[in-house]
Amino acid sequence: MDILEKLSLAGLVPIIKVDHAEDAVPLCKAILAGGLPVAEITFRTAAAAEAIALVKKNIPECLLGAGTVLTVDQVKQAVEAGAAYILSPGFNPKVVGYCVENSIPIIPGCSSPGEVEAALEFGLNLVKIFPAESLGGVKFLKALSGPYVNMYYAPTGGINENNMLDYLALPRVKAVGGSWMVPSDAVKAKEWGAITQATKRAVKAMLGLKLQHIGINNENASEASAGAKLLSTIMDLPIAESTGAFMVGDQFELCKGKKPGRLGHIAVSTNDISRAKWHLEYMGFAFDEPLLNAEGKMNAVYMKDEICGFAVHLLQK
Ligand code: 3PG
Repeated sequence: MDILEKLSLAGLVPIIKVDHAEDAVPLCKAILAGGLPVAEITFRTAAAAEAIALVKKNIPECLLGAGTVLTVDQVKQAVEAGAAYILSPGFNPKVVGYCVENSIPIIPGCSSPGEVEAALEFGLNLVKIFPAESLGGVKFLKALSGPYVNMYYAPTGGINENNMLDYLALPRVKAVGGSWMVPSDAVKAKEWGAITQATKRAVKAMLGLKLQHIGINNENASEASAGAKLLSTIMDLPIAESTGAFMVGDQFELCKGKKPGRLGHIAVSTNDISRAKWHLEYMGFAFDEPLLNAEGKMNAVYMKDEICGFAVHLLQK
């Protein structure tokens, strides 16, 4: 799996600045505890390289990027310390050239179509858009997405809990980054719990997991039909019949037989099914083979284990 794919599944990249290298380990542990095994440690302080080395050594599962990399020398320091990829705020051809020549994943900052084209010239397919909000935010990204069909974006700068979903809803945006999950006050005060909470909130909002419907297994179509009528009466919802089930509103699926699950199934919808699956796998849950739609995209995927007799599947919103 390449960096683009990993970052895209993670969806969020917390951007970190530490004055003391030793703070980076509890800080990244706090981010991981919030459900995100990803971090960007910026060369905005002299502690960056040491901080990267410490995180790499102590939390090897963290997908670690080096940010605010402005020179080739910093690229070398970052790679030696163990960074898996490099980010820069602007498009520096020397830095990009060095990374490309040495097969070091680089996500350069771009703020104009010209810079996106320069990145394409170097064979890149993922750039950071910085400073995203000041550049025009979602509108700017929508406009950029027209001409460059092979380019993907990781915007940062002014992104937070309130606007991140607007960015993530754009098909060409693979991930968003920002410092809002790691407020510098909390880092200074070593309030790791607050960082875990902020990360958790962001992951939760990104995934948007929601109970979509409950599927109930039945012996046969007439039992399903009888149940559907009762639920329809109680809830004052219409019944729609399909080959395999009666849907009552969009909340109850009365199956005309035994679908997965001893008793039935629970469908949980999400903003992005690939991401939700990845995050739940990170939490330790296992999944069956995904169910694909006509275009070959994952549309639903069942979890391996039932919960109280119910199979659980994710569903793309
Ligand atoms: C960056 O390095 O990409 C930005 O500083 C992040 O911007 P933010 O602090 O507004 O999230």
